[in-house]
Amino acid sequence: MLELLLPPPVDPLWDLTEAYGADARPERLNLVLGVYRDQTGGTPVMAAVREAEMRLAERSASKEYRGLSGNAAFNRAMLSLVLGSGSGGGAAERAVAVQTVAGSGALRLLADLICRTRPGTTVWISDPAYVNHRPILEAAGLTVRTYGWLDAEGRFDTAGMLRDLGGARRDDVVLLQGCCHNPTGVDPSAQAWEAVAELAAERGWVPFVDLAYHGLGDGLEADLAATRLLAERVPEMLVAISCSKNFGLYSDRTGCAVVLGASRQSLRHVETALQNAARTLYSMPPEHGAAVVTAILDDDGLRALWRAELDGMRARIEDNRRGLAAELTALGWGAQADVLARQKGMFSMLPLTARQMLRLRSRFAIYGTTAGRINIAGLPAHRVPCLAQGVAAVLGEGAE
Ligand SMILES: Cc1ncc(COP(=O)(O)O)c(C=O)c1O
Repeated sequence: MLELLLPPPVDPLWDLTEAYGADARPERLNLVLGVYRDQTGGTPVMAAVREAEMRLAERSASKEYRGLSGNAAFNRAMLSLVLGSGSGGGAAERAVAVQTVAGSGALRLLADLICRTRPGTTVWISDPAYVNHRPILEAAGLTVRTYGWLDAEGRFDTAGMLRDLGGARRDDVVLLQGCCHNPTGVDPSAQAWEAVAELAAERGWVPFVDLAYHGLGDGLEADLAATRLLAERVPEMLVAISCSKNFGLYSDRTGCAVVLGASRQSLRHVETALQNAARTLYSMPPEHGAAVVTAILDDDGLRALWRAELDGMRARIEDNRRGLAAELTALGWGAQADVLARQKGMFSMLPLTARQMLRLRSRFAIYGTTAGRINIAGLPAHRVPCLAQGVAAVLGEGAE
């Protein structure tokens, strides 16, 4: 049997990570994967997570099977965190939430739900998009189309996006990253989100919001504003939530799939459909990360500690971004620096071509994706000048 297996495509990001691992230069800098690193280059366990884990260890609850929807208290906590208690005309009241295997599991489970509801549905994703959006949607059997995201100056292209989405039909679904767009770091303005919400309400297509970086852009509430706005304006919506980045629970695989309906009655089959989909994929999600998140969000003290740590991470990311822009300006690349300074969240898109990114790697041992994406949250502050010098040097060599 196995001799029939054709060589599968290699995951470009893990391929780059391997190349980084084999690079012996001591100054090497890994900015490929979206992982927060502190000043020492480590990815710390947040203090709120550590404290929640201690409390859970003391309680030592049973590891008996949980239900197919995972941890019910976690699901309630996710609904109130993301939709807010008072917002969205009581959006949480007309929503179902199911714990998933991180954000990726939520994306896949919701893609399955779309397919079970209406096979062959078209889902629109941004161009460029998170590298896994298309494969996850296509693996579930959905058709993918794209809408524009950036204009020629690297700004959010409101007109282009609205023009492209003008082609979305009532039966379509539109996948939108709720904040801190991966890979560009460029988000719509509040007015642009208003226009998107208006278009969704008018045309009747279903927004599918992917939330992976809330808290790391403009702050938790600001980063959730677009999701809450959409929830207020449309009858039906899907939300995939990841706790990987904002709780630092990358390997605990913690996330949640949320479905909003026009009424509770319209949701009557949703949870069972999601459970059936989960049953065929992985049965039940892992408990640990969900228990940790619930212990944090349900305790005022731990919640405040987590919010403070999240704000600290956001501030460090912002300092890196501002520092990089300032260094580049000082090196004579002010226009390029301005583009970088407008970006948000864990990622920045360097204004470099694929060839320039390769030169950044070969000459300076700085690893980002060939599309220009770097994890600005993975940069120790004292290395900001090295990155700026490398970028300035390859910019100076020209685009070829
Ligand atoms: C936009 C976006 N969505 C979802 C995810 C999935 O994250 P995870 O499965 O690790 O929770 C990521 C991870 O990088 C992402 O960037």
